[in-house]
Amino acid sequence: NAVDAAFRLHYHVMPTAGWMNDPNGMIHFNGDYHLFYQHDPYQAKQGPMHWGHVRSKDLVHWEHLPVALAPSEEYDKGGDGGQGCWSGSAVDDNGTLTLIYTGHVDGKTPEEVQCLATSKDGVIFDKYAANPVIGDSPDAKRFGFRDPKVWKRGGKWYMVVGYGKDGIGKAIVYTSCDLLKWEFAGAAAESDGSMGDMWECPDLFPIGDADKHVLLISPMNIAPVKNLYLSGTFDYESCRFDKQYAEQIDYGFDFYAPQSLLDDKGRRIMIAWMNIWGATMPEQAHGWLGAMTLPRELTLAADGSLRSNPVPELIALRGRHAAAADLTLDEGRFVEIPGVRGDSLELIAVFDMSSSDASEFGLRIRCSEDGSSYTEIRYAKSEQKLYMDRNLGGAGDGGVSAAPLQPAADGRVQLRLFIDRSSVELFANDGRIVITNRLYPDPANVGIKFFARGGSAVIETLDAWELSSIW
Ligand code: FRU
Repeated sequence: NAVDAAFRLHYHVMPTAGWMNDPNGMIHFNGDYHLFYQHDPYQAKQGPMHWGHVRSKDLVHWEHLPVALAPSEEYDKGGDGGQGCWSGSAVDDNGTLTLIYTGHVDGKTPEEVQCLATSKDGVIFDKYAANPVIGDSPDAKRFGFRDPKVWKRGGKWYMVVGYGKDGIGKAIVYTSCDLLKWEFAGAAAESDGSMGDMWECPDLFPIGDADKHVLLISPMNIAPVKNLYLSGTFDYESCRFDKQYAEQIDYGFDFYAPQSLLDDKGRRIMIAWMNIWGATMPEQAHGWLGAMTLPRELTLAADGSLRSNPVPELIALRGRHAAAADLTLDEGRFVEIPGVRGDSLELIAVFDMSSSDASEFGLRIRCSEDGSSYTEIRYAKSEQKLYMDRNLGGAGDGGVSAAPLQPAADGRVQLRLFIDRSSVELFANDGRIVITNRLYPDPANVGIKFFARGGSAVIETLDAWELSSIW
């Protein structure tokens, strides 16, 4: 039906039907990008978890492949929910694509164990006959023990696993020579008491030339912060992570459980689930739920902060172009620019702060004709904050996302948006800050209006492209 068609995304990965949560098993293998995901193919809610599977040559166009893992064993047998093949990762073990995942059964002791599955062709997977490869956690009395992320260093395998015990979230480490026998090596990092009681989906990887490391975590029970990264150093002897910097990865509501891969160009690419547990999810009524964020390349700045930028391959989606330059936004007026409207768009607006005396400026997207419904993106100059307000955005949850943002060194504020039917991803100042939200406006609401308040503001350049559908 029309509403459902309006929520289906044009250029994001989503399930053909049923439920999708975390990205799993991200890997560049034999020239293909593989992305698996937590999946219930039979219903649009979390049930017995399978691993769905998509594959791409360019990180833009994806092909759906058969379900890679289905609940089957004692430790991941199906039921109504709270069972199955939970999140994990993938490695290339001498040409064998190997998945390492959590087998989970609610209420069983132990509830969570770590398992393997392998494939020669990258499509059909066999579970290891002697699963699990890690049969219990180091402490029996733990709150969570799941989501193994495995990587290789100096001929040895390292696994970081999400852990929670006594109210403290942790990322714990195991090492192995063969992916089958694992030795516990201690906690790489843990919550200082303010970072949640269970760290889901940890991902630990080297980044940059100086062998810095970044740890991505999805901490539970520290609402409203649902994602964090720590950057610092990792000692491969002690397996301890030394945190030098910490910040949110994404300041939006709909960003969770990110995972990364390293590709053959040496790029560290991250994708996250573009939803959040507990949200109102209007597409569920139409038989599906969930999407992935765009793939984002991660780089580390000198101060230890991350930059996340959409991969340049996405330029392939650009169609009809509209532009404007040196446009003054007078206080209190809403300005529309010819050709700049739609629900499948990329938009880059550069605001020149030196010639703006407005206290805040920005744009409304997905505006209705009568102006009563929209999502507002605004930069507040004295607060140095970027906001995305979806309280009048349509169906689904409202709420205001807020992120700290200083103007760039050249005095400019650059906003790059990817609008796609039921989502918007906002990258500010070359990926310094990202805000990702799902939006469920009326499909007819495609207006875009720029504004300034408390003075005037100048848009130095504006570029907008219609983006074509990959499906
Ligand atoms: C995170 C998570 C993981 C778990 C998976 C289950 O969203 O809760 O910790 O493995 O989802 O689907």
